[in-house]
Amino acid sequence: MDFTKVIETRRSIRSYQPRDIAPDVLERILKAAIAAPTGSDKQTWHLCLVKSPEVRDRLGTEGTTQHFIKDAPVIAVCVAETRYRTDAIIAIDHLVLAARNEGIGTCWVGFFDGEKVKEILGVPADQDVVMLVPMGYPADPAAFCLKEPRARLEDSCTEK
Ligand SMILES: Cc1cc2nc3c(=O)[nH]c(=O)nc-3n(C[C@H](O)[C@H](O)[C@H](O)COP(=O)(O)O)c2cc1C
Repeated sequence: MDFTKVIETRRSIRSYQPRDIAPDVLERILKAAIAAPTGSDKQTWHLCLVKSPEVRDRLGTEGTTQHFIKDAPVIAVCVAETRYRTDAIIAIDHLVLAARNEGIGTCWVGFFDGEKVKEILGVPADQDVVMLVPMGYPADPAAFCLKEPRARLEDSCTEK
């Protein structure tokens, strides 16, 4: 898909088809995340791909108030040490855009109970939960739509 179209039609998708994401599709998306730059090329983040319905249910009920995540066939949970948060965020953006390119909807979910998510997934103590990203085919394919620009170019960018 045209890169500009990918960017312009990526939307937060909060309702999913129960259909699984094919392994080759998921692999391409994950490789896009891995292709993201990290400071000193250290590859400092980790993704836990939660597919088990039981664990998704726990994440969506105990781990966050954003209950819709449990309906996604995959919940990507990104963890990293606090100092590597920026690396993790860049990788998540790659993942989100690559997913859109494959017709997979995602939503950045930043409202969660980090300690509870860590307990559910057995995340090591030195790692923070950076973001939860539910992934799945949108219930409404028309949800991938162009939105008016959020801000005027001249308000968001200046030249000196
Ligand atoms: C860092 C971050 C955290 C977010 N956390 C949540 C969240 O917890 N729950 C949710 O439904 N959406 C969340 N969103 C999605 C935003 O609400 C959404 O991106 C914004 O409203 C713009 O809509 P769009 O993504 O469809 O363009 C988050 C987005 C970002 C970038």
